[in-house]
Amino acid sequence: MNRHLFVIFGATGDLTRRKLLPAFYRMQQTAPGEDQCIVLGVARERMSDEEFRTLARKALSEHLPDTEPVDEWCGDYLAYQSIEDGYEALAGRIAELESTLELSGNRVFYLALPPPVFPSALEGLAAAGLASAPGWTRVVVEKPFGRDLETARELNALLHAVFDESQIYRIDHYLGKETVQNLLVFRFANALFEGAWNRDRIEGVQITVAEELGVGTRAGYYDQAGAIRDMLQSHLTQLLTLVAMEPPVRFDATAIRNEKVKVLAAVRPIEPADVVLGQYGPRGELPGYRGEADVPDDSSTETSVAVRLYVDNWRWQGVPFALRTGKRFPQRLTQIVVTFKEPPVSFFGEGGHVRPNQLVITLQPQEGFELLFDIKAPGDGLVVETLPFHFAYDEAFGEIPDAYETLIHDVLIGDQTLFVRADEVEEAWRLYEPLLEARWPVHTYPAGSWGPAQSSALAGPHGWYQPGD
Ligand code: BG6
Repeated sequence: MNRHLFVIFGATGDLTRRKLLPAFYRMQQTAPGEDQCIVLGVARERMSDEEFRTLARKALSEHLPDTEPVDEWCGDYLAYQSIEDGYEALAGRIAELESTLELSGNRVFYLALPPPVFPSALEGLAAAGLASAPGWTRVVVEKPFGRDLETARELNALLHAVFDESQIYRIDHYLGKETVQNLLVFRFANALFEGAWNRDRIEGVQITVAEELGVGTRAGYYDQAGAIRDMLQSHLTQLLTLVAMEPPVRFDATAIRNEKVKVLAAVRPIEPADVVLGQYGPRGELPGYRGEADVPDDSSTETSVAVRLYVDNWRWQGVPFALRTGKRFPQRLTQIVVTFKEPPVSFFGEGGHVRPNQLVITLQPQEGFELLFDIKAPGDGLVVETLPFHFAYDEAFGEIPDAYETLIHDVLIGDQTLFVRADEVEEAWRLYEPLLEARWPVHTYPAGSWGPAQSSALAGPHGWYQPGD
């Protein structure tokens, strides 16, 4: 068993407390025999190792309330270094930890940092000789990867000046979700679906990522970003690529990511008529976006976006992909709905055909899928009803790991399949450039609704699939 060094920049931030520390702790508990990580937290604050461990204990008790006492783990696995002491001091601390704890010499630098401090962090690492190590060195980058095509290119250039692409792991945490990974297995291990996965059989695809929460305390970031940058360019676009990609020639990072990039390259430029932006207004007790803390009174930032895309290739020509996401929708729901074409002839008369077959893949919160099909209701006369075949993840497998556990594990084993490649990021930005450049109308929708009514025009003939339909 090896022990590697995992250096987290932004160690006092929300992501570290909410996701990274719980993931490390759980990984060590659930797979004690596997390679392990000593975590060196780095941030601006001055604090001792012990103070950082106190912060970690508090975070773990909040985010993993049912776990065993974590004191021992915090004592054995956590250390802290203030970046105010400089990168040379950081290099010294890393060397000291590697020698006293007899670590492998393999290092991960996890940059959970706001974009403005990115360049200085990369320069600092390079200047202190930390871009290469006695073992391997990998760097993990959190979104946002730029705020448009140009800044994404700059960021990639900056990263490539210090690290090789094979060392860079760009996280889109949706790719770490078990159910998102399962899309590949679902499609390519079940010939039943793959044979029908094309424009001959499919009428349209919908992808919904709805959030019940509002902007919360993140207005400082969000008001500059908006739903297009925050959700559409990243998470929804990743789901689109997995639904639409061709079968890869192998199940490896290069082959899979090649196919994902091809999907993005084939997307037709977006027309104004295919975009609806929204911003939540107040309803009842719920404040509108402009009434949230730190949001300017006249903000025109979109908190929802719906867009219709066409993938101009042989498989998908003419099939609409309707994507929508928003904050303060009625519930948290990530769902992909594939609507199949209706039979060419319907001869069941009045009580006859109800609606087309639909495959509803729910990625969260109730992971699983349903295949809606029509059957004859028992009794006299011919009445057709639509009923679901149903599969629920938790019924079959129980609890599933958090995305960050999966992603950290993959960084450690050097598998880049679930990470976003430089060209993929740039293609995704290229797609949405027209939406970022022009000023688009932003429609108000009541908090707790499914976004502006105008977005229903993008959903296709059967409307947006709603839970309980
Ligand atoms: C993040 C966005 O990337 O994803 C947030 O910045 C959003 O605004 C979050 O709330 C949603 O993630 P999840 O895993 O809760 O669906």
